[in-house]
Amino acid sequence: MQQTPPALVPNVSISVAPMVGCTDRYFRRLLREITRETTLYTEMAVAAGVVRNPTLLNFDAEERPLILQLAGDKPDELRRAAKLAEARGFDGLNLNFGCPSKAATAGGYGACMMQKPKSAVRAFAAVQEASRLPVSVKCRLGIQENSLSHQDESQDFFAFIEALQQAGCTRFILHARKAWLKGLSPRANRTRPPLNYDLVFAAAQEFPTADFILNGGLTSPEQGLAVARQHCAGVMLGRAVWNNPWCLAQADELIHPHSKPRATPLPQDEILLQMIALSEAALAEGARVPSVLRGLTRMWRARRGAAEWRARLATIATEQARAQSKTSLASLRLLVERQLLLEPPQKLSLQA
Ligand SMILES: Cc1cc2nc3c(=O)[nH]c(=O)nc-3n(C[C@H](O)[C@H](O)[C@H](O)COP(=O)(O)O)c2cc1C
Repeated sequence: MQQTPPALVPNVSISVAPMVGCTDRYFRRLLREITRETTLYTEMAVAAGVVRNPTLLNFDAEERPLILQLAGDKPDELRRAAKLAEARGFDGLNLNFGCPSKAATAGGYGACMMQKPKSAVRAFAAVQEASRLPVSVKCRLGIQENSLSHQDESQDFFAFIEALQQAGCTRFILHARKAWLKGLSPRANRTRPPLNYDLVFAAAQEFPTADFILNGGLTSPEQGLAVARQHCAGVMLGRAVWNNPWCLAQADELIHPHSKPRATPLPQDEILLQMIALSEAALAEGARVPSVLRGLTRMWRARRGAAEWRARLATIATEQARAQSKTSLASLRLLVERQLLLEPPQKLSLQA
């Protein structure tokens, strides 16, 4: 069968996964220097926490399109959090029914909601009614106690999707593996349960009026779209972006293959300079040094000067920790500028 190139997929969605400890405001802002059109997600925010402290919802308009991911099982808290989010200007809401952490399970939210579809539907309905924002769901392919317990692959999962679809959910982001709720850390829960893309594709066939976004183990937007193309409305990437943000270099063109690309993509080094300026501004506003530097550390890989880049970032981090003084990123700026003299400017490329 002849294959359609991914670039021809109409209205394809490419998004960056919600990741606690990674996709904070600073990292999202840095990503926006590389891609304008991908959809970004916040880290998971527990509804009760948002209600107590609405400043958790602060973001920069430049980060949009931006979806707030909420977790919770209490309709009242979810309703209040959704209203706050709408007022704050998010582009959509996403409900987390996939987090397998002990804290989530003990709190009754996250992946364990897949075991109680009625609560999941009530949570969805509460958020849906409380705001005019589109509401999507992010979940696993089901729940298993552990690697030894066997359950029917699809029955419970399809029933879960059907219940939510009947409640009005039209977009499902599927992390294409089950969650094992006993004996695995959240980290191991992202690698040990096997990926099952076929079940995602089967769901897309079973529920043709809903959009399904494939997530889990994808290495780049191009590779993800090649896998998901015939079945899904798009792809979501997590660790691939965290490990190498430049993998989004061509994402905007993949999303809008027929429109004229925005002004010539900036050379990487210019983007790095922009990012340094943003980081300086964030630190001047009192942002925490580790959050700001986390994004920058991932921006220079496999290039001459990468080791020096890492060393300087490490120094800045320690200086700050010791002296509690205002940090200057000027030395990084000098490094990039020197690099610009040594190497001709590079356009954004996947080989970064
Ligand atoms: C550090 C880290 C934190 C995560 N935090 C969240 C989260 O807050 N909410 C969520 O739905 N998934 C979370 N995830 C799961 C990702 O969104 C994604 O589903 C998972 O990593 C699989 O996608 P990937 O293989 O592209 O990374 C997290 C993953 C990582 C690596």
